Amino acid sequence: MTTLSLLRPDDWHLHVRDGASLASVIGFTAARFGRAIIMPNLKPPVTTTDLAAAYRQRILSALPAGSRFQPLMTLYLTNSTDPAEVDRAADSGFVHGFKLYPAGATTHSDAGVTDLNRIDAVLERMSERGMVLQVHGEVTDAHVDIFDREARFIDQVLVPLSQMYPKLRIVFEHITTRQAVEFVRSARAGIAATITPQHLLLNRTALFAGGIRPHLYCLPVLKTEPDRVALVEAAISGDPRFFLGTDSAPHARHTKEAACGCAGIFSAHAAIELYAEVFDAAGALDRLEGFASHFGADFYQLPRNTDRITLVREPWTVPGHYPFGTHEIVPFRAGKTVAWRIA
Ligand code: DOR
Ligand code: ZN
Repeated sequence: MTTLSLLRPDDWHLHVRDGASLASVIGFTAARFGRAIIMPNLKPPVTTTDLAAAYRQRILSALPAGSRFQPLMTLYLTNSTDPAEVDRAADSGFVHGFKLYPAGATTHSDAGVTDLNRIDAVLERMSERGMVLQVHGEVTDAHVDIFDREARFIDQVLVPLSQMYPKLRIVFEHITTRQAVEFVRSARAGIAATITPQHLLLNRTALFAGGIRPHLYCLPVLKTEPDRVALVEAAISGDPRFFLGTDSAPHARHTKEAACGCAGIFSAHAAIELYAEVFDAAGALDRLEGFASHFGADFYQLPRNTDRITLVREPWTVPGHYPFGTHEIVPFRAGKTVAWRIA
């Protein structure tokens, strides 16, 4: 048995939903992470600092007694986001970024931005105020193959965007391709990326292993084995531009096991444990702390956590499901083992 002590990690990309669903899932994240960037794709979306303040209070109220977990809020950009909202957000102290969903790219993204020119003044103000832009990096044209949408987004959107706003700090969220890794490595200062556990652990073949696997469907969709290998190399490299963001995205079982299933993988129940598996398999456990606990905080210009967590290499079996409001969720690795557990 091996134990591993880590400075408490943070999750720089997390969906926790709202209401009874929120109450069902937040404890998993709070047991592991000090902070998390809370994605704003509620229905209706969290578009203003006032809405984020209220959502933040609902999250704090849903935390287990005694938890010191801190939700870090981000606002959902729309075509009509007011540049003055950037100042309200920056002055709030609890909003740490704005999320760009190209309209139609994923779950609850229909209110997203249809044309970046529409938010030029907002992006200018974000650059001036040092607000982080978090990007869902996929083009949405129906004729672009789903496996090419991220790579196409780099050329069509991200390269021009990063040149047009040379001071804008950008997180390329949940990267899935070798091209995204190369883009971040060669990008100007102020550009980083989050990487999920599923994109480090699985390739697209897993989606069809023995039949279609709706609980492994997320967006961006899993990619090829060479893409996965490139992501692992980036994560374990010690390069501070790559850091942890689970994109844990719970959906009730019946909405995934359906003729048209929702995108999203719930991993909050074993998030840091799954990353430990990846780093362990690559012989790079000594690099996990940088990826999980240092680089994200540094990029967001927040202090690192000061307390620690302990992981133990001791397999446990993930339950087949967890409660999710009045429904249930099927977690990542349901019914199978995870090699590490949290002490
Ligand atoms: O798989 C995903 N699920 N990708 C996203 O971008 C959104 C997320 C969700 O909110 O369910
Ligand atoms: Zn997400």
